[in-house]
Amino acid sequence: MAKREEWGSRFGFILAAVGSAVGLGNVWRFPYQAYDNGGGAFLVPYFIALLTAGIPLLILEFGLGHKYKGCPPAIFRRLTAHIPHTEKWEWLGWFQTLICFCITLYYAVILGWTLSYIYFSFNQSWGSDPKSFFFSQYLVMPESGNPLDIEFVNMQVFVPLVLLWGGAWFIMVRGVQRGLELASKIFMPLLTLLLLVITIRCVFLDGALQGVDWLFKPDFSRLREPRIWTAAYGQIFYSLSIGFGIMLTYSSYLPKKSDLVNNAFITGLLNSGFSLVSGILIFSILGNMALQEGVPVPEVVSSGIGLAFITIPQALSLHLPWPGILGPVFFACLFLAGFLSLLSLVEPVLSSVIEKMHWTRRKTTHIMMPVFMLGSLLFATNAGLLVLDIFDHFLNNIGLLASMFFELLIMCWFFKTDWIRDSVNPISEMRVGLWWAISLKYITFILLFSMLLNNIVVDLGLGMETVLQRLQSGAGFEELTVLDLRSTYGGYSTTALFILGWVPLMAIGLAAFLLQHLRRDELFKIHEDTK
Ligand code: PHE
Repeated sequence: MAKREEWGSRFGFILAAVGSAVGLGNVWRFPYQAYDNGGGAFLVPYFIALLTAGIPLLILEFGLGHKYKGCPPAIFRRLTAHIPHTEKWEWLGWFQTLICFCITLYYAVILGWTLSYIYFSFNQSWGSDPKSFFFSQYLVMPESGNPLDIEFVNMQVFVPLVLLWGGAWFIMVRGVQRGLELASKIFMPLLTLLLLVITIRCVFLDGALQGVDWLFKPDFSRLREPRIWTAAYGQIFYSLSIGFGIMLTYSSYLPKKSDLVNNAFITGLLNSGFSLVSGILIFSILGNMALQEGVPVPEVVSSGIGLAFITIPQALSLHLPWPGILGPVFFACLFLAGFLSLLSLVEPVLSSVIEKMHWTRRKTTHIMMPVFMLGSLLFATNAGLLVLDIFDHFLNNIGLLASMFFELLIMCWFFKTDWIRDSVNPISEMRVGLWWAISLKYITFILLFSMLLNNIVVDLGLGMETVLQRLQSGAGFEELTVLDLRSTYGGYSTTALFILGWVPLMAIGLAAFLLQHLRRDELFKIHEDTK
């Protein structure tokens, strides 16, 4: 069997892992989550979530990848290779890999938008109305707002998308060391530099500090709300790229002697550092905007796509100094952060195909990249944003949580975390023990289970909050009507949610089981040292 690829250095591995973790979520999700969930007080649940879920899960995934060396399906298969007839967990690896595949398709499209916006921001092509520029002129969205009104591929989105896929193709075919690692070594320092420069400039804007004050002003009374805690855990899960098979794949390229526990701490803490700096940047800009427009900060606060493609462009046009420099730098930061995350989403897919089909990396990349490109065309259509919104909601809120739930169910409840602990501890300076096991087996597991259940119930149309509110206001069960119970995501039609949300999710589950049975006999030769 050909020798497995390896990282050239520990530094390279950490940069790649942090590169995966730091993404759009740090820049446009964390600041809003913190602001909306108690400001400075949010940092309490956030860091507790990091210590009781984020880092323990990273250690678990690093340990699994390092011990069972393989793509995610191979890892879950090898897990029980020594117990006859129990090679039945391979599907979970495919489930994770397929989630990566699907997320990649639209993550690339969003990055394509940021690439366009680097270009637009040189002369602020969005003019005085960034909102209608983005929705009507750039994305050309259907006026009906119906995600099923897909009519044509939007060339303005298609061109940057092709460029971006070309870049990813070039990097991925070069392999782990000369591709992924080298890209991380170039892009991460560049991202850090640009982010620090732009943040330092923006902190000195008029009103910036009042903005930052809004972000960090603690409201400790809110810590009593369960919502704050699930928001913190949710942010940590998403942000650290856990449950996607990414960290499993990355750690499978580690050399035998690697301090896994330290690596997990460094990755987790650096990722949070990027989130905090991004929060300061975003709220400095918002603070300045509020001051200039003479409105309170909460009126200008936004997140996600609205923040990046509407609010920031507006600030650039109307208020910020040197918009032709700050604009491109801001969008370049978004792009760099997202691009390394994109590569990390592609890698588990490539490595799974390589190992299942026994193809070379070269052949696999040349076959899979066109598949990715074609798949992402769906999101480059006029209705792309709407389709993406539904896809993203279902994959992240149900698919990803389900994946982590099964991972923990298997590792903590069916088998023993000791298996991983015993292979992690001898090579790590800091040892894991009770804290780690309790965090995974009880704290994270229970939280994951309740979040998953809640999301499924809500998405199935039983708005739990509505029900609770009605019951609290004195209504009896018999008074609730079906209408009270119905709350669908984003106000989309049930048909659209079914076709674009539930069907893909079920298809991923089904495909995972089928893949487990495909070419099963010659699958994943087991390394001597993992027998
Ligand atoms: N962690 C990334 C972020 O914060 C998102 C991501 C998810 C990246 C999954 C890769 C895989 O944006």
